[in-house]
This record gives sequence, C-alpha cells and structure tokens, in this order.
Amino acid sequence: MGSVAAEKPHAVCVPYPAQGHMNPVLKLAKVLHARGFYITFVLTEFNYRRLVRSQGAEAVRGLADFRFASIPDGLPYSDEDATQNVPDLCESTMKNCLGPFLGLLAKLNEETSSGAPPVSCIVSDGVMSFTLDAARELGIPEILFWTTSACGFLAYLHYQQLVDRGLVPLKDEAELNNGFLDTEVDWIPGLRKGTRLKDLPTFMRVTDLNENMFNFVLHEVGRVSMASALVLNTIDALEVPALAALQKILPCVNSIGPLSALVRRTIPSDSPLAAISTSLWKEDSTCLNWLASKEAQSVVYVNFGSITIMSNEQLVEFAWGLANCGYAFLWVIRPDLVKGESAVLPPEFLEEIKERGMMTSWCAQEELLFDPAVGVFLTHSGWNSTLESLTAGVPMICWPFFAEQQTNCLYSCTDWGVGMEIDNNVKREEVEGMIREMMAGEKGRAMRAKAAEWKESAAKAISPLGSSSVNLEKVIEEVLRSNS
Ligand code: UDX
Repeated sequence: MGSVAAEKPHAVCVPYPAQGHMNPVLKLAKVLHARGFYITFVLTEFNYRRLVRSQGAEAVRGLADFRFASIPDGLPYSDEDATQNVPDLCESTMKNCLGPFLGLLAKLNEETSSGAPPVSCIVSDGVMSFTLDAARELGIPEILFWTTSACGFLAYLHYQQLVDRGLVPLKDEAELNNGFLDTEVDWIPGLRKGTRLKDLPTFMRVTDLNENMFNFVLHEVGRVSMASALVLNTIDALEVPALAALQKILPCVNSIGPLSALVRRTIPSDSPLAAISTSLWKEDSTCLNWLASKEAQSVVYVNFGSITIMSNEQLVEFAWGLANCGYAFLWVIRPDLVKGESAVLPPEFLEEIKERGMMTSWCAQEELLFDPAVGVFLTHSGWNSTLESLTAGVPMICWPFFAEQQTNCLYSCTDWGVGMEIDNNVKREEVEGMIREMMAGEKGRAMRAKAAEWKESAAKAISPLGSSSVNLEKVIEEVLRSNS
C-alpha cells in the first residue's frame, strides 16, 4: 500500500453478524470506498470462516484499500453453516465485542507506518452500539446505521413507552391470543393510524422484562444519540411521516436508500469492488437461466430470507398453495428453514410441480427481482427484501416472521399499497388465492402499478441530485470536516 492510501479517510465498517445486516453495511462501505474512503470491513470470526467456506478464500482477500478484518463474537467456537441463535448473539456482541474491537482499532492505527491511513471514523450497525464507546475513546466520529425501515426504527425507539404505559411485560402468554395484541397504538407520532400492538416489532411480546431481546433493544436504542450521524436505508418519499417524526427526536437521522440502487449507479458492475460479496450461502447461478425462459411477470418468487424458520406443516401448506395456483414458481428453501429438521416435501407435490417449479437453497436475490419474469414476491417482509422488491417494482405477498417485519408488512399492505398479508397460521387455500389475485386480479394490477411507482421513486432518490444522494453526501462531508 502506498501513499495514496495513506491520504484517504479510513472508515471501519461494522455490521451486526447476520446476512440481513452484513448486506446493507457492505453496500454503504462500497459507496464510501467509491467516494474515496479506505475501508476496513469487520466480520465476526464465525462469519469470516463461513464466508471463506461459501465463497472461497478470495472473498475475504478484499482490495488494497478495502480490507476485511475479524473479531470474535464471544460465543463458543462453531463451524456450522447455520444462522446463529439471535438472542444469544445479541447478548454476546453487546457484552464481549468492545475489547476485541478496541484491540483491532489499535492494530489498524499501528499499521500506519505500512501505508494504511489512521482510522478516521466508524460506520456501525445500530445494534452494535458498543462501537460508540470505541469512537468516544478514540475521539473519532461514528455514523450509526440502523438497517431497518424508518417505521420499524420509530417503533423500536418507543419500546420504553410500552413499559411506562404498563403494556409490557404481558401478564402471561395467553395475552398473545386474547385480542390484547389488537390494541391500537395511537401514541407513537409518525406511525400510521390503526397500527396495533401486533404490528410493532415482535420483541415486545414478553412476559419477563429480562428476556434479553427486549432488554437488548432498549439498550441499543438508548444509545443512538451518541452517534455523530444516523442513517437509514430508506427513501424519503416512502416514509415521510415516520422520517419527520424521527427527525424531531433525532435531528441527525438521514435516509440514504436504497443502497442497492446507489451501488448499481456508482460502481461499475465489472469493477473488482462490485465483485466483493458477503453472501453466507453459495448462490445457485442457474436460477437466472431458468427465469430467462419464462414470460414476463409469469413467475412467483418465494424466499423467506436468512433467519425465518417454520414448521414442516407450514412448509407443506406453502407447497400446496404454490402447486394449486398453477403458476410457475422459484422457491428458495434455505437448508435451515425448517425447525429442527430438514424440509420434507410430499412426493405427490414434487411430481405435480416438476414442469413449472424450481427449488434451490440460495439465490442472487437482488438480481433476480429485476428479472422481468418475476410477477410477485412471496416474502417474510425483512427490510432488505422489502426494499429490494420496491426498488425492482415487484408487489409482495407478506408472511412476516419476527422483529420489525410485522411493521414492514403493515406498511406494505396499507400505506405503500404493494402487499397482501398471509395469516401466520398459513393455509394452502389462502396462498393459492392470494397468488391468483396478485398475478391476475384487479387488486394485483393496482399493486403492481403502485410498485412501479416506488421503483421510480427509488431511482429518483439515488440520482445525483436525489434526496438519498444529497443526504449521504452531507453525512460524508460532516464526517470529513470533523476529522480535519
Ligand atoms: C432480518 C431483517 O432484515 C430484519 O427484518 C430484522 O431486523 C433482522 O434481520 P433477514 O431475515 O435475512 O434479515 O431478511 P432481509 O432483511 O430481507 O435480508 C436478507 C438479505 O439476504 C437480502 O439482502 C437478500 O437479498 C439476501 N438474500 C436472501 C439473498 O441474496 N439470497 C437469498 O436466497 C435470500
């Protein structure tokens, strides 16, 4: 590394160690790199090993001025290729990562003699808030990146009020089924009228406040004001009321999405930077070939993201819904999608769909959503998936699993006008009926038209003078200024 690198500002980027967080933080890191930053991208040792296994050693080789580093997550050693236990991982990163992270920063700063520039800022996932202590100790700015929607983040920010209002903890588990979750939430300014407790991020469904996900979120949101700037991967036009309410609480909030589109606009697809990926599973490259033979808007794309788990009964209901709808479908079934066992699909189903169904374990989702053959996305409403679908103009059938996916689902099915929700107790008839409506019905047509409008809004937001580009530039300039 020569003197050019030494002149660059150096951003240390730290995602929470799960796929849905690593992807957007990587995108922000790429945009910063294209904007002249030297990048150190920090993985946990667990994910570093996984990435090497799924993508090969070259995946973590990086570039001269885009390097990977790793720190332990504090959990026992494992070389599994499955999603780690989320509550355990949250608790462990919160308690154990600051020390190793400070060690890494010290090491990076020692390397300046070899040409790497001194660390000038931290770009951290909002749920890795231990990094704020490190930024404070080093006297450097930190950009905090909550990888959720603005409406989801707004709801998380009000978790303490659930306690203050006596709504949480729940009296007992029975509350989950006695209509309590239908209680309207009219006390969060900026959230849509008609939001119910069941639409808030699911970690509030606790009978004991010591349950660590609720406590974890309280802890993390309690620290956001320590950041120099806060960024969200969303679009101004999509979340006007939620963003306005957030800016009243946290003036440093900025929408900078969709980052996937910003990356596509700013980084040439054949550049070495574009090839860097944090995909923890190996992508099946044959999906795109399979789609290429299909007519426009004729395929149902089904994918529940990286964390969702379901029972085999639920899997079978989805399967028969897909078989009975009559449309071609591409269904991604992660190896650990089914609880405690591997997915078992009935042989009659496999026989029935062999001409028109493709099933695989992981795909290049972003690229795939842009394929004209995709007519609808059956999704768990993870924020990345939702935003990627809107960016590609694809309407959604939503089956939220956990976290703020319920909030994303609510907005998709109401204000954003692009989604229909499947009941948690999924039944094949409902799956079949919704797919038919979405592919050929009046409601589906209206939702497809609305999704096309969001696609345009997304393109506008990341155009050179669009809201997200302008916001990001402002954040970058503030960071550079505080270093000079
Ligand atoms: C979740 C959700 O983001 C969020 O609601 C919650 O806070 C915790 O994390 P996940 O469930 O994985 O993450 O969903 P999502 O946000 O949709 O992220 C999945 C990412 O993996 C997307 O970027 C998607 O494009 C990518 N992906 C998924 C693939 O590239 N291929 C696949 O086959 C599946």
